[in-house]
Amino acid sequence: MSLSAALRRREYMILITGASGTVGRPLVELLVDAGVKVRAVARNPAGLPRIVEVVDEPVLEGVTGLFTNPRAVGDTIDGLLAESRAAGVRRVVTLSAANVDDDLEDQPSRFRGDRNREVERAVTASGLDWVALRPNMFAANAFGLWAEQIRRGDVVHGPHARATSAPIHERDIAEVAVRALLDDDLLGTRPVLTGPESLTQEQQVQGIGAAIGRDLTYREVPPEAARQAMLGRGFPTGFVDGLLGIQARSVGVPAVITDEVRRILGRPALSFARWAADNAYVFRSMP
Ligand SMILES: NC(=O)c1ccc[n+]([C@@H]2O[C@H](COP(=O)([O-])OP(=O)(O)OC[C@H]3O[C@@H](n4cnc5c(N)ncnc54)[C@H](OP(=O)(O)O)[C@@H]3O)[C@@H](O)[C@H]2O)c1
Repeated sequence: MSLSAALRRREYMILITGASGTVGRPLVELLVDAGVKVRAVARNPAGLPRIVEVVDEPVLEGVTGLFTNPRAVGDTIDGLLAESRAAGVRRVVTLSAANVDDDLEDQPSRFRGDRNREVERAVTASGLDWVALRPNMFAANAFGLWAEQIRRGDVVHGPHARATSAPIHERDIAEVAVRALLDDDLLGTRPVLTGPESLTQEQQVQGIGAAIGRDLTYREVPPEAARQAMLGRGFPTGFVDGLLGIQARSVGVPAVITDEVRRILGRPALSFARWAADNAYVFRSMP
């Protein structure tokens, strides 16, 4: 980085909402490493770099750029953007989702409260410079789907063993977010970000097995049994039906893969094998 670029970065102050989350954490770390001042909105800030200012509600004074995570700001986005304009914030980068234009019942996370479409629309209509990042399925979903079972034994039970996705490493999303926040090339765009390869659920579980040195088996259970199990664990019906429907329709259909991560970062998107290696400790540790 040139001296002038380095000095320019020191003039930025980026407010990160959802800073303690899957995307927020690596984003905060990358910005700090780049010499950018960060204000992190987090109610549970444990583990964030000490140098970061932490607030439990957005504080906009001095902020030049804003990162919005719909899970954290879904109910407050309009007010937050109005305050941002008034405070002189110049740019907003939002996390969104690859499925944000799909029918609402095909966006399972909506049933758990995520408001990706509303937040993306508010951001793109805000009058601020904007970028909307549209990642597909996070590799990190493997924690919730399989970590508990993998810690218990070598067989993972689940529906649709051959359902496909192209899971993305959260580091790739965070690195693209840094570009969106600091450079101008992505302004006014909605890049769809995916992992580099289409993998079945079975292959993903085997990939985690390879990372932890165990031979894991994905044993398929009938979708209705999986449905009842998820409902029994308290997941909303719309979420369960949306997720199982997407999985069923993907069997035998390779997942969509885009070249956006490579185009933006100048290197290939990180593989699922790399993600599993980076996170092996989570699957190894005892509950
Ligand atoms: N998972 C996927 O496959 C996927 C794919 C595409 C898009 N997305 C979208 O990405 C977003 C989720 O990103 P993520 O996984 O990084 O989120 P995450 O890990 O759940 O983190 C979000 C953070 O926001 C804060 N938060 C959560 N609920 C909140 C609330 N009601 N009010 C205020 N703060 C709240 C929490 O931090 P504190 O408790 O510390 O405040 C949490 O750490 C969602 O909009 C989701 O739909 C997900």
